Amino acid sequence: MLNQPGYFISFEGIDGAGKSTHIEAYAELLRAKYPQREVLLTREPGGTPLGEQLRKLLLDAPMNLETEALLMFAARREHLAQVIEPALQVGKIVISDRFADASFAYQSGGRGLSIDKLQQLELWVQGRAGGLVQPNITFLFDLPSDIAEDRRSQARAPDKFERLDLAFFERVRQEYLRRAKAEPDRFCILDARQTPVEIWNQLQYITINI
Ligand code: TYD
Repeated sequence: MLNQPGYFISFEGIDGAGKSTHIEAYAELLRAKYPQREVLLTREPGGTPLGEQLRKLLLDAPMNLETEALLMFAARREHLAQVIEPALQVGKIVISDRFADASFAYQSGGRGLSIDKLQQLELWVQGRAGGLVQPNITFLFDLPSDIAEDRRSQARAPDKFERLDLAFFERVRQEYLRRAKAEPDRFCILDARQTPVEIWNQLQYITINI
């Protein structure tokens, strides 16, 4: 993590864990709490015009696993260069719906790409003189994959990732949990089996050192 005037927050979790339900409310909460700071809400894959085009391809088109990882990181490179880093440099609070942990969880945990290859991309895309650009805090919405599947089936037409099977999502979940264990100071795990009200009550009182 780098020393910068801004503050970087990411929301992560398997599809159906409920992070999108809370992210806008959380941005509003921070706007009210820190009226002098600009709060920027963004997402991955996406967050820039090019990134949003890549998102469409990534979520719809079947592709080779390495191509998928390269495109995720290409979109991330653009997102960092155009949006995230300029915002952090002038002291803004950036909240991203997913960031690099999702690549490790989905492309490695879920689909089996080697962590070593992803680390090379991470270093290339997020590496700076002082270290890696990483969120200051990552809220991980943790939910067993069978409950997530039930929730997804009630919600909407699935994208390419959301059509994958239970075992896939359990591997994604386990990779998220492994990363959370490896970086306990950055990750904050929320038990997403709770109701949205219970999760919100927890989320809004988590202390962050902005
Ligand atoms: P998601 O946040 O679930 O969007 P929505 O709520 O609109 O469905 O993200 C889209 C999908 O992209 C999700 O299934 C996870 C996947 N993804 C990766 O596989 N790797 C990545 O690096 C990122 C950022 C997302």
